[in-house]
Amino acid sequence: MSIHDNEGVKQLLIERVKTSETPRDVLRAPELRKLYSTIGSIPAEERANFGREVNDLKQALEEAITEREAQLDSASVEQLDVTAPWGENASLPSLLPAEHGTHHPLIQELNQVVDIFTRMGFEAVESRQIDDDFHMFEALNFPKDHPARDGYDTFRTEEGYVPPAHTSTMQHRILLDGKARLEAGGDIAAISYGRVFRNEDVDATHEHTFYQVEGVYVSEQANLGQMLGTLRSFFETYYDQELRIKTQPAYFPFVEPGLEFAIEKPAAIGGGPGQWLEMLGCGMIHPNVLEAAGIDSKKYRGFAWGGGVERLVMLKYGIEDLRHFESGKLAFLRKFNT
Ligand code: DAH
Repeated sequence: MSIHDNEGVKQLLIERVKTSETPRDVLRAPELRKLYSTIGSIPAEERANFGREVNDLKQALEEAITEREAQLDSASVEQLDVTAPWGENASLPSLLPAEHGTHHPLIQELNQVVDIFTRMGFEAVESRQIDDDFHMFEALNFPKDHPARDGYDTFRTEEGYVPPAHTSTMQHRILLDGKARLEAGGDIAAISYGRVFRNEDVDATHEHTFYQVEGVYVSEQANLGQMLGTLRSFFETYYDQELRIKTQPAYFPFVEPGLEFAIEKPAAIGGGPGQWLEMLGCGMIHPNVLEAAGIDSKKYRGFAWGGGVERLVMLKYGIEDLRHFESGKLAFLRKFNT
């Protein structure tokens, strides 16, 4: 290397290329021009050497520029830096406010649902998102090849696991977990909430992924009257008004009798007399379900219910299309985060 700091200039300019948005401009850098202009004043015996160094420098710069231009090309779609602190990405267009973060509307409502039942004395557990055939069907009194299994449009993994099609998959676990308490003179009172999955065509009222809440109550005296009181009380609290309710018979293998629970659409949200909305399935827990968990069905009885969360929320806010919830559409999400 010559007495001139050509190497230093080279490093400096290459660094500049690597961070520049217009790397080709570096070829016009004053440092480079200064090097050219000094050639004339270099002693003759050093000039050839100096010239070669300057040429090397130019070539190295060209290479760095080509590399940088390719990099800029492939980065022309603005990327979110997911590791950046909150706020770093906030200047990008169309993000929800990043200062505090927000819960998805469904989670906000689900929290309220869980809160109401918790205040009524129910323990709350999140349901599993991967389960098995036993909890999905057998423990719930669906014998093998039972036709009612088909009604659940159940997905399956290659290994034979089941992404649950209803939160009733948690019933057996709730019963096992509460058995000792029950036998010690207490009761079992629990809800389970979470995501469920069905292999269905998606439209305004059907989704492949949605949320359910399941309730289980077992004691020596559990009866339908208590169940209806519990459900009415839940719905009246959630909608913050008095409601008319009714039931009609329905078939689910895990309850006997099985019922559908309906509320009358209140006038306050555009409903009228006789406009019944089915909100969930329920009934007295089938003795086979209790026995599968080792609970004596002669001594104890229970009731259970289960239904979709989206339906509750849609009615509350007049949302007309179920697909909004999973869409990630900001216009929809923002309505809940004013
Ligand atoms: N798991 C049922 C479904 O998704 C709903 C249901 C009906 C749950 C009756 C219950 C019940 O606990 O007792 O269609």
